[in-house]
Amino acid sequence: MTARLDAVAAHGSVAIRGGTVVDSAGSRRADVLVGGGRVIAVDPAGVEGDRTLDASGCVVAPGLVDLHVHLRQPGREDAETVETGARGAALGGFTAIVAMPNTDPPIDRAAVVREVQDLSAGACCDVFPSAAITVGRQGVDLVPMAELVRLGVRIFTDDGAGVQDALVMRRALEYASGLDHLTGGRRVVLAQHCEVAELSAGGSMHEGEWSSRLGLGGQPSEAEELMVMRDIALARLTGSRVHFQHLSTAGSVAMVRAAKEAGLPVTAEAAPHHFTLTDACCAGYDTVFKVHPPLRTGADVDAVRVGLADGAIDAIATDHAPHTSADKERPFDAAPPGMLGLETALALALTELELPVERVLALMSWRPAAVAGIDDRHGRPVAPGEPANLCVVDPQAAWTVSGAAMASPSRNTPYEGRELRGRVRHTLLDSEPVVIDGEPQR
Ligand code: DOR
Repeated sequence: MTARLDAVAAHGSVAIRGGTVVDSAGSRRADVLVGGGRVIAVDPAGVEGDRTLDASGCVVAPGLVDLHVHLRQPGREDAETVETGARGAALGGFTAIVAMPNTDPPIDRAAVVREVQDLSAGACCDVFPSAAITVGRQGVDLVPMAELVRLGVRIFTDDGAGVQDALVMRRALEYASGLDHLTGGRRVVLAQHCEVAELSAGGSMHEGEWSSRLGLGGQPSEAEELMVMRDIALARLTGSRVHFQHLSTAGSVAMVRAAKEAGLPVTAEAAPHHFTLTDACCAGYDTVFKVHPPLRTGADVDAVRVGLADGAIDAIATDHAPHTSADKERPFDAAPPGMLGLETALALALTELELPVERVLALMSWRPAAVAGIDDRHGRPVAPGEPANLCVVDPQAAWTVSGAAMASPSRNTPYEGRELRGRVRHTLLDSEPVVIDGEPQR
C-alpha cells in the first residue's frame, strides 16, 4: 500500500469523469479515480484527481485483451515491431495482447521468449508471448514447455500452421496437463490453427464458387473442420484444454458448440474479418483480402455471428497480421496471408454485431483474459483495489478507417475508407494514460 501511495504521488491520480462503467458486474453511471496502478474509487457522486480525462458519452471498461497478434519481431521489423504493435493495440483499446510465435527466429526457446519480454518493457500495453508447440513450428519435436512456462508462457501454438501429426498433438496435450504446478493451478493452453495441410495446399482463398470464377486454388472448409474434429477428440482423450483459433466455418462453430455442450474443455475465438467479410471480397484479386483461414461464404459469416452471440465462441481475437506493401503487392497466390486488426476490431464488433456493448466487452475483455489465464490483471471488474487497466470508448462516435493513420508501419487493412461506429477515446495501463483523446502517449 505504501508503494502504491508513493506511485500515486510520483505520477498523480487520474479522474475519469462523466462515463458509464461497464464490466462483468454490469453497468452503472460512475466516475473512476485511478492511481498507483490501481482503481482508487468508483463513485457516482464524482471524483477529483490530479488530472482529469473526459468520459462523457463514453463507456469506461476493463481494457481489451487480444489472444492473437502477430508482432513480427524478431525478424520482420519493417512490417511491425513490439513497440508499434503495442501502440496500435492501445489505440484499439487493448491493454493486453498475446504475441504469436511465428517470428524469425520463432518463439520456440527461452532466449526468444526473453527477447520479446524485454522488448515489451515500457510498451503501450502488456505483451504476453505465446510459444510454439513444436520446435521451429515444424510439427515434429515438442518445445521445452516446462522451461517456457517458468518464464511466464501460458499459451502454446504453432499458429500459421496446425500441428499435423495427431500423436504429436496428443503428446503436447498430455505434457501440458502436467504443468499446472508451475502456474499456480492455472491451466496451460494449447491453441490450434486448424488447417490440414494436405487439403489446403495450393489454395489461396476459400474453395467455392468464387475460387472457381477467379481461377484461384481453394482451401475447402473441411481443411479446417477435420482438425477441429480431431482436436475435440484429443481434448476428450487427454482431458487437456484446447483453444481453437480464428474459427471461420459454420461446421467448426457447430462442432465446438456441441463439444462444449458435452462438457469438453474447449474454447474458441473468431476474428473480425470472419464476421464481416466474405470470399466475394476477393473478386478484384486484391491481396489485402487474402488471409488464413480464408474469408468464407455469407452462411459461414452468419454462423460465426451466431456463435459469438450464443457463447459457442468465447472471444473476438484480431489475428492482426501486418505485411509490408511490397509483400502484399505480389500476385494473389504468392502474397502472404493476413490483415491488420488491432485498431478496427472493437468498432467492427460494435458496428456489425447486433450485440449490446456489455456482450461485446465480454467477448473482447474478460472472456479472453480468462482464456489466457491473465484474469488476475486484465478484464477485472472496475472496483477499488483492482488493477487500473482500462479503456474508455465512445460507442456512438463515427470515424473512417485509414491504414495510413494507424500505428503499424504496414498498411494492409481490408476496411480502408469504411465508416465505423465506436471509437476508443482513452486507454490506461497500470493507471497511466497511454492513449488520451485517441492520441498515443508513448
Ligand atoms: O492470415 C494469416 N496470417 N494467417 C496465419 O495463420 C498467419 C498470419 C501471419 O502470420 O501473417
